[in-house]
Amino acid sequence: MPDSLPPQRTQVAIIGAGPAGLILAQLLHQHGVDNVILEAKDRGYVEARIRAGVLEQGTVDLLHQIGAGERLAREALVHDSFELRVDRQRHIIKIQDLAGAPMTVYGQQEVVKDLIALRVEKQREQVLFDAPVLHIADPAGERPSVVYEHGGQRHTLIADVIVAADGFHGVGRNTIPNSMLKQYQRDYPFAWLGIMADVAPSADHVIYSRHTDGLGMLSMRSPTLSRLYLQVDRGATREQWPDERIWEHLHRRLAADDGWRLNEGPIIEFSVAPIKAFVAEPMRYGRLFLAGDAAHIVPPTGAKGLNLAVRDVQVLAPALAALIKDNDSRLADKYSEQCLKHVWWAEYFSCWMTELVHTADDPMAQALALAELRTVISRRGAQTLLAENYVGVSARPPASVTASETLARLT
Ligand code: FAD
Ligand code: DHB
Repeated sequence: MPDSLPPQRTQVAIIGAGPAGLILAQLLHQHGVDNVILEAKDRGYVEARIRAGVLEQGTVDLLHQIGAGERLAREALVHDSFELRVDRQRHIIKIQDLAGAPMTVYGQQEVVKDLIALRVEKQREQVLFDAPVLHIADPAGERPSVVYEHGGQRHTLIADVIVAADGFHGVGRNTIPNSMLKQYQRDYPFAWLGIMADVAPSADHVIYSRHTDGLGMLSMRSPTLSRLYLQVDRGATREQWPDERIWEHLHRRLAADDGWRLNEGPIIEFSVAPIKAFVAEPMRYGRLFLAGDAAHIVPPTGAKGLNLAVRDVQVLAPALAALIKDNDSRLADKYSEQCLKHVWWAEYFSCWMTELVHTADDPMAQALALAELRTVISRRGAQTLLAENYVGVSARPPASVTASETLARLT
């Protein structure tokens, strides 16, 4: 492939048009910092990728603040509670009452569509789709650059700073020498089988049901679309899980003694996601910064992944603005340390909640988790802590901050 084109320049090269990359681009735009987003896949693929669906209030506030909240305000479902089910009994955790904030259900792909439309159609700026980054050069030097492919040619983009918001399998983290990174990983022996079903949700809140066969979960995307999950073995396949088996398990695992019924409908999407926890420290190497899933993965129970990615870029944007516009590196130097506080909080909470509602082979672990779950549902203090962690009131940076405000807070 020819590499004859002259190099391009920008202030921040962002790898990845997931939530982290797209929100960072908007925040930098507000700070007056030029940026280019390079995305490996095409627009249709990125906009159709079904993943998260539960947003913390801080994430919702930020989306409004950057001008991406219009459709969300109309279409999102706001929940003031969620449910824990155990021994066929229903226990409502009133998050709004206990922790003072709701959770909002709005599909990640809708967030991504709104962010792309804002940048491309409204601001007439580009997201470079079909542009996989192949290589990051000189990340620790003064003139880092990325080499990417687009339109059958190889291009070089020189930047002041490179942000790898390129997900768990991206190139960013792998560019950092192993000796400079400490990596923590836990692989759970199970996966989440997720389906989207074309049927009205059977409840107006999210339900986590602990069952001897494994977790059964009900969520939703709209008044006519249900999102359901089952704990299954790692490596489970569609062949092993025909529609009838999925519904049979969902009915069984979500059953309640009060006659609650699960609505069935056509399955329009199916996926299996292995469950893991992962953290890479630090989240920076010279002029290369990691954000979102590129640096950390939480088990999905508790819905923290997308919200965590948003927290990272909220911290990163003012830091990069100060670094690039004022040559002030103080915030950038604190980026990793500041993020790792909220990252480890989310890891702790997500792993804790995972163990609470999933079944394990170890009978002792099983019995302890059940005892803990029974404590949570019977003690208001325990419910308050759960609710506060669930809505994410702790460890969130303020929605709108200037670099000097942030510095004043930190120093
Ligand atoms: P991504 O969304 O992975 O985006 C990275 C982007 O980088 C992608 O578009 C990718 O194509 C691109 N890319 C990769 N490599 C390159 C390259 N070399 N060059 C250019 N581009 C590249 N989180 C929640 O908060 N709430 C939930 O309810 C929730 N539920 C979940 C349910 C499931 C089943 C799963 C799998 C995840 C869930 N999550 C949830 C997690 C959430 O989806 C992720 O944490 C979130 O997508 C992270 O965003 P990101 O921008 O960091 O990464
Ligand atoms: C959803 C995902 C989660 O991880 C969770 O804890 C609750 C709901 C969802 O996709 O709707």
